[in-house]
Amino acid sequence: MSRPLVAIVMGSTSDWEIMQQAAQQLQDFGVAYDARVISAHRSPDLLFDYINDMTAQGVRCFIAGAGGAAHLAGVIAGKTTLPVLGVPMPSKYLQGMDSLLSTVQMPKGIPVATFTIGEAGAANAGLFAVAMLSLNDADLAQRLQSFRKKQAETVKATTLPAL
Ligand code: RP5
Repeated sequence: MSRPLVAIVMGSTSDWEIMQQAAQQLQDFGVAYDARVISAHRSPDLLFDYINDMTAQGVRCFIAGAGGAAHLAGVIAGKTTLPVLGVPMPSKYLQGMDSLLSTVQMPKGIPVATFTIGEAGAANAGLFAVAMLSLNDADLAQRLQSFRKKQAETVKATTLPAL
């Protein structure tokens, strides 16, 4: 396994169903990643150790997914100057609005790039990490261009069913 360039962290194993969309994008683009369940609330010491460990290993960004009182991305952002991409998880009672607002409402000076709630947000966080890494990797940039082209061609080739 090559050294991870992206660290994916989520607050609970129940988040993996969504967060695997980020991992899938990275895998599809051949970007090495590490994925872990670590809760900012339930295991804060472990989170700080992980941030230090991943930083020492040379990751370029963190993708953090959490739900409810979703402080994971914000706590990571407070501890590192690496870019932090936050993905709000859908939640049972407030449909992820709690997660979205907890993740996006960061105080001035500690930014978290917050994505939309759920699968699309997780996939887009993965794609955004690819876009950041492609700034210094021409092959990766080329693969990202091809991905976009293929997506556009799929839209162009779409026909609606007859009435
Ligand atoms: C958050 O609480 C997690 O990120 C998850 O989205 C939510 C529920 O966690 P579990 O009770 O399923 O562990 O901390």
